[in-house]
Amino acid sequence: MKDSNFLKEHNARSMWHPMAHPADSLANPPTIVTSAQGVRITDIDGHEVVDAVGGLWNVNLGFSCAPIKAAIAAQLDRLPYYSTFRGTSNDAVIELSEELRRFFAPDGLTRAFYTSGGSDSVETALRLARQYHKIKGQGQRTKFLSLKKGYHGTHFGGASVNGNANFRTAYEPLLAGCHHIPAPYTYRNPFNESDPAKLAQLCLAALEDEIAFQGANTIAAFIMEPVLGAGGVIPPHETFMPGVREICTRHGILLIADEVITAFGRTGSWSGSRHWGVQPDFMCTAKAITNGYFPFGAVMIAEEVAQVFESDRTGAAAIGHGYTYSGHPVGAAAALACLAETERLNVTENAAARGTQLYDGLQALAAKYDIIGDVRGGHGLMCALELVSDRARKTPIDKKTIGTVQEVAYRAGAMVRVSGPNIIMSPPLILTAEDVQIILSALDAGFAAL
Ligand SMILES: Cc1ncc(COP(=O)(O)O)c(C=O)c1O
Repeated sequence: MKDSNFLKEHNARSMWHPMAHPADSLANPPTIVTSAQGVRITDIDGHEVVDAVGGLWNVNLGFSCAPIKAAIAAQLDRLPYYSTFRGTSNDAVIELSEELRRFFAPDGLTRAFYTSGGSDSVETALRLARQYHKIKGQGQRTKFLSLKKGYHGTHFGGASVNGNANFRTAYEPLLAGCHHIPAPYTYRNPFNESDPAKLAQLCLAALEDEIAFQGANTIAAFIMEPVLGAGGVIPPHETFMPGVREICTRHGILLIADEVITAFGRTGSWSGSRHWGVQPDFMCTAKAITNGYFPFGAVMIAEEVAQVFESDRTGAAAIGHGYTYSGHPVGAAAALACLAETERLNVTENAAARGTQLYDGLQALAAKYDIIGDVRGGHGLMCALELVSDRARKTPIDKKTIGTVQEVAYRAGAMVRVSGPNIIMSPPLILTAEDVQIILSALDAGFAAL
């Protein structure tokens, strides 16, 4: 590896960073992370901090998970790659499929379709949803509904159901037939309603209204995150997702749960759908399926949907979709080891306990600093602070101020993520109570520095 002077000099010079302006990356070079242990990352200057971002919502078991590393190394030695396109399979992916079927049985999901990541998983679910209706002779059901503020990755399908202009405008026109309803976001919503239960009912009424307007028989699926993540951690009221399920079922619309963040324990339940007592028709997973150590994902498919495909005798259910890396044996081996370790450590318990501690601590910070307009969380280890320059008016904070909070917090011991006016936290699920305290103290230092 080149020395640190070389690396700093060339930082962002010959690469473009995702979700960043190239000129900004050159003017403000990104932090160069060179190693990690447990829940801590170390940068090129040897500065070590608690990673309150958890990689990118994916390193649930921390950076030192030996069984996953060993499984990847062993699989690379034994069979580093083979395709799962028609005609071939591999041992690791067969075993993984049985394990996932067991793990997701309470969610009613019994088949897996493999991908290389979250955006691929969303694309897969959207495409299979349309095909499902075509097999059933309802090919006019092509539209998709979703939530404003929702994040579903960056492929054209996912970007089209995305509910944030930052990921849309520069890439328009997007897919036709995608329509959005208001998110159950109590801090800001078009109904001016701050009561979560009432807001959930208003959003459900908006969904009914949109379905009536579009015509139920033109809609393929509704896609939502059980707890909205990248949009600023927006947990809906407990009645919301069950309400969506009931409406979708009544209108013959498939429900896609985008659990790229929430599957495998982050909410304090094994899946976000289970957290709300809902069984979706498709579930998109990725990220923590391999603890972030290998790019991999799985779309889980409900038994009823699987039956429609598998009982087709017309040829309409032939799947014209898939990726070179679908069912990659190294990814499958990583996922197998990761699932075993995730269950052995029973991470949901710690995610719930540490999530409560973090959420309570953030609320204490909000009592101390007026700049914190809203604190969101309370469902496992996903929390956000929404910053405002005027609390009464809810004026969004400027980029420079929130950048200062992040920078000072980093120097004080914690990496947090900034997204628009939000500071987002999604640490590894193996975090200790002391680690939570370090994050809270670092943020306190960040706010005190303003
Ligand atoms: C809910 C959700 N869906 C999809 C994606 C896209 O995943 P990827 O970045 O792996 O393509 C993300 C990424 O954060 C996500 O949070």
